Amino acid sequence: MKSGRLQTLINQVNTIINGTGMALPLNVITNKDLEEMVETSDEWIVSRTGIRERRKLEEGMSAVDLAERASLEALKAASLDPLALNLIIVATVTPDYPTPATSCLLQARLGAFNAGAMDLSAGCTGFIYAMTVGHQFIQSGVCRNILVVGVEVLTRITDWEDRGTCVLFGDGAGAVVLSASDEDRGIISHSIKADGRGAELLLVPGGGSAMPASLESISKRAHYIKMNGNEIFKFAVRVVEDTLEEMLRKEKLKPSDLDFLILHQANLRIIEHIRKRLKLPREKVPVNIDRLGNTSSATIPIAIHEELTAGRLHKGDLVAMVAFGAGLTWGGLLMKW
Ligand code: ACO
Repeated sequence: MKSGRLQTLINQVNTIINGTGMALPLNVITNKDLEEMVETSDEWIVSRTGIRERRKLEEGMSAVDLAERASLEALKAASLDPLALNLIIVATVTPDYPTPATSCLLQARLGAFNAGAMDLSAGCTGFIYAMTVGHQFIQSGVCRNILVVGVEVLTRITDWEDRGTCVLFGDGAGAVVLSASDEDRGIISHSIKADGRGAELLLVPGGGSAMPASLESISKRAHYIKMNGNEIFKFAVRVVEDTLEEMLRKEKLKPSDLDFLILHQANLRIIEHIRKRLKLPREKVPVNIDRLGNTSSATIPIAIHEELTAGRLHKGDLVAMVAFGAGLTWGGLLMKW
């Protein structure tokens, strides 16, 4: 890698990803299935979003079930006993319950009884936020091993009568084990940002203290995602470019130095727009939205896991990740794999 920052990765504690995992429901919902439910077409969905199918979690299962499967795979890949975990961070907007945190349910499932546990709510940027928080705990010397999970069961807060949103979302989980390492690799830089003035652009109005569940809130369909897609689209293109530019400039790097740019999967048009502007070849910018839809905080860890297990991601590769989402929030991470 050509970064001056490489020097500072030497002789200090670095934060590496030591294992990855993912979990998907078996149920597939195709665009044809959606044609039966709302006034839409396969052609519209594919041309406007790039999505062909998405997964829907089976009845009777919840976020912790997906999180557990992804986490067990990540722990196995890292060859780590759950008791060696110091912290579990679950990024989600679809926890099992308002309280307690899904991370606590996961801690019990894994038997990770030496780990603290917390959930983090930052919309689709949740995984980047959670990685950044985990990195701070490792850098400060407080933790050596942290499980970071992005998990969503968005189909449970999707309005199946709203064609503007129901075609977009899917369920899934991705997990990584972050570990302290003296190897000359790991997280190089990070950026997390928010602009709460855009909170109403992507909102679930009901179910919190502002509008507790009531017969009225249910009849207004207030417990489902409401989204201003056009505004989010414009915001996304702007902040993804700015975040990446800022991270690369700080490290004196160019887009062409990247081996991978892993973008949040919200719309293939956003991904393709960024890829073309940066003149990156397709193989450097992974896509899973066509098969999985937008799985929010799970899109990036799933993409990482898929690239790794396909043998395309190698030690020493320079990887950038950028996400955006409800809040509004956005952020990025740069790491030497
Ligand atoms: N099928 C057919 N027609 C549709 C559908 C559908 N599923 N959905 C909307 N339309 C119609 C609209 O009603 C509109 O019709 P009109 O012109 O008669 O009014 C027309 O298609 C165009 O609608 P637009 O909203 O302008 O379509 P656009 O090209 O912007 O695509 C989309 C909409 C796909 C939602 C896009 O704006 C988008 O992807 N935005 C980003 C969303 C996003 O990233 N959300 C996730 C954020 S992350 C998180 O935290 C979850």
